[in-house]
Amino acid sequence: MKERLLDLLACPTCGGDISLAYASKYDDREIIEGVLTCVKCTREYKVVRGVPRFADLEKIETDKAETAENFGWQWTHFTQEDEKYADQFLGWLQPVKPDFFKDKVVLEGGCGKGRHTKLAAEWGAKEIVGIDLGDGVESAFELTRGLPNAHIVQCDIFKLPLKKAFDYAFSVGVLHHTPDPKKAFISLASRVKQGGHISAWVYGAENNGWITTIVNPVREKFTSKISQQVLYQLSKLPTLSLFLTTKLIYRPANIIASPVAKHLFYNDYMNHLADFGWREQHNIVFDHLVAPTAFYISKPEFEEWWKEIGAADVEIIWHNRNSWCGFGRLS
Ligand SMILES: C[S@@+](CC[C@H](N)C(=O)[O-])C[C@H]1O[C@@H](n2cnc3c(N)ncnc32)[C@H](O)[C@@H]1O
Ligand SMILES: [Zn+2]
Repeated sequence: MKERLLDLLACPTCGGDISLAYASKYDDREIIEGVLTCVKCTREYKVVRGVPRFADLEKIETDKAETAENFGWQWTHFTQEDEKYADQFLGWLQPVKPDFFKDKVVLEGGCGKGRHTKLAAEWGAKEIVGIDLGDGVESAFELTRGLPNAHIVQCDIFKLPLKKAFDYAFSVGVLHHTPDPKKAFISLASRVKQGGHISAWVYGAENNGWITTIVNPVREKFTSKISQQVLYQLSKLPTLSLFLTTKLIYRPANIIASPVAKHLFYNDYMNHLADFGWREQHNIVFDHLVAPTAFYISKPEFEEWWKEIGAADVEIIWHNRNSWCGFGRLS
């Protein structure tokens, strides 16, 4: 943890400023082990392995803890980097472009292994704070520790240990995995300054009926309940069928006969997945099967979220015909 992060932190219980009580281990400019304290209520929060810890999975609500544990395994095992991450990220953030990050103080709600935290830092954010409840923070810290403007915090998105000090907040693929997606969105927006911006990408309800009726029962009753090691092996089978179908059918069809390809089942998303190799497709399949909680949000529901935070100039974009990208300004 870099000491300059203290300027952005606030006690999740009382909102007081956070100061460094002591650091017992430093590595260059990072505090690796230490204790933070709230100047108002004197609560203490540890810094462990370079990450300030504001949530304890053993004490948090069971549904949140299960989600964080399952994704934690994912993001500490699928630690690969992929050259397509930047394009994929921009697809989720549309209409935002890399220049938008320049000199902004940015908050990422649910950073997983930190792949987008790193991109935001490289795109010139003044500061980027990636928060996550799960063990992904261990990978995210390792990935971003060399970047002076990147910070990783372990906490619950519903109880952010942060000041209302951000110019921009984004959240990609996280809100729909919380017990109350709208509330998580409002919590994220509450840390953005007036005039600042917010982006969110969520699974859509539209066009995903086959997932909600066929895949969800399997995910809820079986794949999210078994050990992640077993799911890692089992998910290779659907990955094989996805890999062959996207590479041998969808991609060639979209190149050779795009008017015909448009009529193929779930074409936009399958053609998008064809960009990725085996490892990333395995990661994506695992990601879809590991989550205990996943909501599919309809456009009217999503629009309601933006009204609720009083956002202006809202753009809601249908992405890959299966999900929603939202962008707006806090007026
Ligand atoms: C599908 S992953 C997406 C991670 C990252 N945004 C990415 O695209 O690589 C969902 C993430 O949300 C995090 N998450 C779930 N519930 C959370 C909560 N209540 N507070 C903070 N993070 C949470 C999980 O731990 C997980 O890392
Ligand atoms: Zn306090």
